[in-house]
Amino acid sequence: MKLLGILVFCVGLVQGDIYFHNPRGSNNRLDERGRARNNANRMFDSQNNDRGGYNVGSVYYYAGSELQMEWTNQHSCGNPNNHCELIIQYMCDEKMRDGATTSTIPDNPMNCANYDCNTDTKYGMNEDFEYYLNCRTRERNKGLFLADQKPKGHTAIYTRQNPGGTRRGYECPEERDYYPYWHPSPWVDVAVMTNNATRCPYYQEESANVKSRWACVLPRSVLVMNYRRGIVVPNNKEDCEAFVWPPNNPNGTRGVWTEFPAHGVAPPECRETEWSRDNHLGNGLGGYPNLYNWTIPEINHDTCVLRIRYNISTNDYDAWNTNSSANEKRRNQGSGIDLSEQVGFASMEEAKAKGFVLENNPVVKIFDDVDVDLRLAINTAQYGRTFQDRSHTFAIEPRTSDLVGVTIHNLNVRGKRGNIVQVYPAVEYDFVPNTLHAANGDYVHFQWTGSNTNPNNNDGQGQAGTDRSNVVLQDAQLYPEGSGLTSGQKFGHWGRSYPQHINNVTFLGLPKQDLQRLALLMPNQFRGEMSELDDAGTYFDLGPRKITRTGTYHYMCTRNNNFSNRSQKGKIVCSEGASKVKAIGWNGGNVTLGDGKAAVIVSQGTFSKLVKLSVEEWKAEEGEQKVQAANQKVTVGEGYASSYIVVHPEEKFSDEGKKVTLQMKIDPGSSEIGIYRTSSSNFATWTKVDAEVNDGIAQFQVAEGGVYVARTVPQVGLIVGIVVTILVIVALVVGTVVYFKKNPNKWNNIRRSTANRV
Ligand SMILES: *[C@@H]1O[C@H](CO)[C@@H](O)[C@H](O)[C@H]1NC(C)=O
Ligand SMILES: *[C@@H]1O[C@H](CO)[C@@H](O)[C@H](O)[C@H]1NC(C)=O
Ligand SMILES: *[C@@H]1O[C@H](CO)[C@@H](O)[C@H](O)[C@H]1NC(C)=O
Ligand SMILES: *[C@@H]1O[C@H](CO)[C@@H](O)[C@H](O)[C@H]1NC(C)=O
Ligand SMILES: *[C@@H]1O[C@H](CO)[C@@H](O)[C@H](O)[C@H]1NC(C)=O
Ligand SMILES: *[C@@H]1O[C@H](CO)[C@@H](O)[C@H](O)[C@H]1NC(C)=O
Ligand SMILES: *[C@@H]1O[C@H](CO)[C@@H](O)[C@H](O)[C@H]1NC(C)=O
Ligand SMILES: *[C@@H]1O[C@H](CO)[C@@H](O)[C@H](O)[C@H]1NC(C)=O
Ligand SMILES: *[C@@H]1O[C@H](CO)[C@@H](O)[C@H](O)[C@H]1NC(C)=O
Repeated sequence: MKLLGILVFCVGLVQGDIYFHNPRGSNNRLDERGRARNNANRMFDSQNNDRGGYNVGSVYYYAGSELQMEWTNQHSCGNPNNHCELIIQYMCDEKMRDGATTSTIPDNPMNCANYDCNTDTKYGMNEDFEYYLNCRTRERNKGLFLADQKPKGHTAIYTRQNPGGTRRGYECPEERDYYPYWHPSPWVDVAVMTNNATRCPYYQEESANVKSRWACVLPRSVLVMNYRRGIVVPNNKEDCEAFVWPPNNPNGTRGVWTEFPAHGVAPPECRETEWSRDNHLGNGLGGYPNLYNWTIPEINHDTCVLRIRYNISTNDYDAWNTNSSANEKRRNQGSGIDLSEQVGFASMEEAKAKGFVLENNPVVKIFDDVDVDLRLAINTAQYGRTFQDRSHTFAIEPRTSDLVGVTIHNLNVRGKRGNIVQVYPAVEYDFVPNTLHAANGDYVHFQWTGSNTNPNNNDGQGQAGTDRSNVVLQDAQLYPEGSGLTSGQKFGHWGRSYPQHINNVTFLGLPKQDLQRLALLMPNQFRGEMSELDDAGTYFDLGPRKITRTGTYHYMCTRNNNFSNRSQKGKIVCSEGASKVKAIGWNGGNVTLGDGKAAVIVSQGTFSKLVKLSVEEWKAEEGEQKVQAANQKVTVGEGYASSYIVVHPEEKFSDEGKKVTLQMKIDPGSSEIGIYRTSSSNFATWTKVDAEVNDGIAQFQVAEGGVYVARTVPQVGLIVGIVVTILVIVALVVGTVVYFKKNPNKWNNIRRSTANRV
C-alpha cells in the first residue's frame, strides 16, 4: 500500500514535458504500434510521458528556407510560476540514424556489428560512441548544486537529475542538464528563449557557436580499456596536465589539455519565451502553438537532428546562483538552502525545525499552536528539471540554381492519426504553418511524412493505423466574414468541407498538373485506390513551387477532414509585397525584408517585453488602392519614391523615451523626398517624419508602427539654389563697383591692359 502510494505520488510529480510537433518529435519512438513508446532510453533522456512522440518519418529542407517549429510545453513559460528556458539546437553527422530497433544502442563495442557501434545501423544513434566515452570517463563538475541527491559516481554521467548514471543512447547527462555546457559538444545553438532575457548577452557570449571549449584528451584506446576500471579524467587544465594513467606511473599516458574550436557560426538568437499556462499542454495566447521561425542554415547535409530542451526551475531558491557550497552544508541542514527568510523564520535552524528545508518530501508544520504535519510533494531531482524532445533525422539540401536568392517557405503536416484523446500528448492533423504569409514570386515547398504504424484502433478515415494527407482548394465562400483588409481575391473558404469542383481551380497560380499531384499524391503514386489515399506511401514531396498569383487561399485535406471530429485545413495569404514577423524582446534584434527593402532595427533594452513586430511591403499601386478603399487620398507629395512600408503593432511599442530605427529603400533617381506616416486603420492624417537619406536608404526613429511611405516633394532645394546664386552674383557686382569707386586708379589699369591687348 505504501509502495503504491509512492508510485502514484511520483507520477503526479511529472510536471514538465515538451513535445515537438513540427518537425515531428520522436520522444524516443521508432515505429512502435502501441500508444506508449517501447523504450524511454533509446536515444536521449526526454523525461516525457511515454505516450508522446511520432513514429519515424523523414523530410528534407532547402538551405536558407523558412521552417516554422512548433511544440507544446507543459509547465508554462513566460509566466511567473516558474523560471523557464527553451533551448533549440541542431547537429549534423553522417553517422547519425533513426535505427531499425527500439533497443538502446549498446555501450560495449563487443555487442555491435564489427565491434563498432558507430556503424551498426541497426541501432538508432545521435551522439556517437566517443562522445559518450568521454562523458562517462570525465570527472563531473563538482561545483554543481546537488540538493540532497547523492550521485553514485564521479563522472559526468552522474547528476542531480540522474544520480544513478542511467544511460540513454550516447547522450551525456551533465551536458543535457546544463546549458551553456562547459565541455565540447556537437550541438549547434539555434535559439535560446528565457523568462529572463537579461541573461541573453551571457548565453550569446558563452555559446559554443562562438566560443571554443577545452577538454583533457587521452587516447581513445586508454579510455576504452579503462572505463570499467574507474578512470576519471580531469575536467580542468591544472589537473589534466598533472594527470597520468595508470596513476603514479611515470611511463603512463598523460592528459593533454586541448582546445576544441567554436562551431564558427553566429550566436543563437535569444529572447523571452512566449507565454503559456502551466499544466495546460497546448496552444499559447491567441489559440495557436508557441513557435520559433527557423531559417535553415546554409549547409549541405544528409543527416541532421533538431533538439529542444525545456528547463524549468522553481522560485523557491535562486537556482542560477546556488552551487556546491550549498552541498557542503547539506549534512545538517537539508539541502543547504536557507529558506528561513522567505518563510519568515529568524534562522535556518528554526526553519529546519519546522520542516522548511529543500529536500525530498519535507513535512512542514505551519501552525505553532496546532500540531499538524503537511507533507509536500517535492523531489529534488526534479526541482530544477530539464525535459527534451528531438526530431528524427532530416536532410538539408543545397539550392538548385533556379532557387538561388528566392524565399522558400516549408509547408508541412503535423499530427498523427486518431482523435484528440487518442493522440494526446501528440496532436491531431494540421498544416504547418496553418496560415502561411508569402509574397508573389516566393516558393512554397509542400512536403510531409507520416507513419503506417499508428495504433490500429485510433480513429480516422482510410486504412487503420495509417497517416495520409493531401491538399485541395476548398469550395468558394458562402457567407460573409468580418471586415478587415484582405489581400487581393479570396479563393476557397474556411467553412466549407467540399473542394472546388471546377476544372480551372486556381491555387497559388500553380499549373493543373501540380494541383493533381497535391490532390492525388503523384508522381510518388501512380493511380491505385486513392479515394482515401490508401495506396500512397507515407511520404509526399511536391518540391518547391513558385507562387504566381496573389490572393487568400483556403485549402483542406479530403481524407482527414471529418466534420464531427477532425479538421485539417490551412490558409495561404499571398500578397504582392513581402512581409515578415518576428518576436523581439529586451535583447533586441532586426526584422528585415529581402533586398534591403526595409528593416526595423531594435537595439538592446528598447523593449522590456516580447513584441511581435511585423514589417510588410505594399507596392505603390496596392497601397494607393487601400487608401482609396478607405475613402481617403494621399494628401502629401507628388509621386512615389518608395513602396509603402507597414509596421505593426501600430500603437506605441517601445519603452518610455526609446525608439527603434526604421530603414527603407528609396527608389533610385528620387532627389527631393519626404517620408510620411499614416495609420493603416484609416489613412486619415499624414505626418512628416524626420529622416536621413544616404545611399538610397532613408533612416529614421519611431516609437510606433504605422504606414510609412516616401513621396517626392516640390524641389524647394533647386529654387533656393537659384535664389542663392542670383544673390551671390548681385553681391559680386555691387562689391566690384564699390571697390573700383574707392580705387579708381586700379580701374584705369584694367582699362589700359585690355586696351593693350586689343
Ligand atoms: C559558489 O558560489 C559562490 C557565491 O556565488 C562563489 O563564491 C563560489 O566560488 C562558488 N563555488 C563554486 C565551487 O563554484
Ligand atoms: C537549467 O537551469 C539551471 C538553473 O536553474 C541551470 O543551472 C542549468 O544550466 C539550466 N539547464 C539548461 C539545459 O538550460
Ligand atoms: C535576471 O537575470 C539577471 C542576470 O542577468 C539577474 O541579475 C536578475 O536578478 C534576474 N531577474 C530575475 C527576476 O530573476
Ligand atoms: C618506465 O620505462 C622505463 C624504460 O622503458 C623502464 O626502465 C621503467 O621500469 C619503467 N617504469 C615503470 C614504473 O614502469
Ligand atoms: C468520422 O469519424 C468518426 C470517428 O472519429 C467515425 O465514427 C465516423 O464514421 C466518421 N465519419 C465518416 C462519414 O466517415
Ligand atoms: C474558370 O473558367 C470559367 C469559364 O471559362 C471562367 O468564367 C472563370 O473565370 C474561370 N475561373 C478562374 C478562377 O479562372
Ligand atoms: C470524437 O472524439 C472523441 C474524443 O475527442 C471521442 O470520444 C469520440 O468517440 C469521437 N467521436 C466519434 C464519432 O468517434
Ligand atoms: C513566425 O512567422 C509567422 C509567419 O510570418 C508569424 O505569423 C509568427 O508570428 C512568427 N512567430 C514568431 C514567434 O516569430
Ligand atoms: C541588426 O542590424 C544592425 C544594422 O544593420 C546590425 O549592426 C546588427 O548586427 C543586426 N543585428 C542582428 C541581431 O542581426
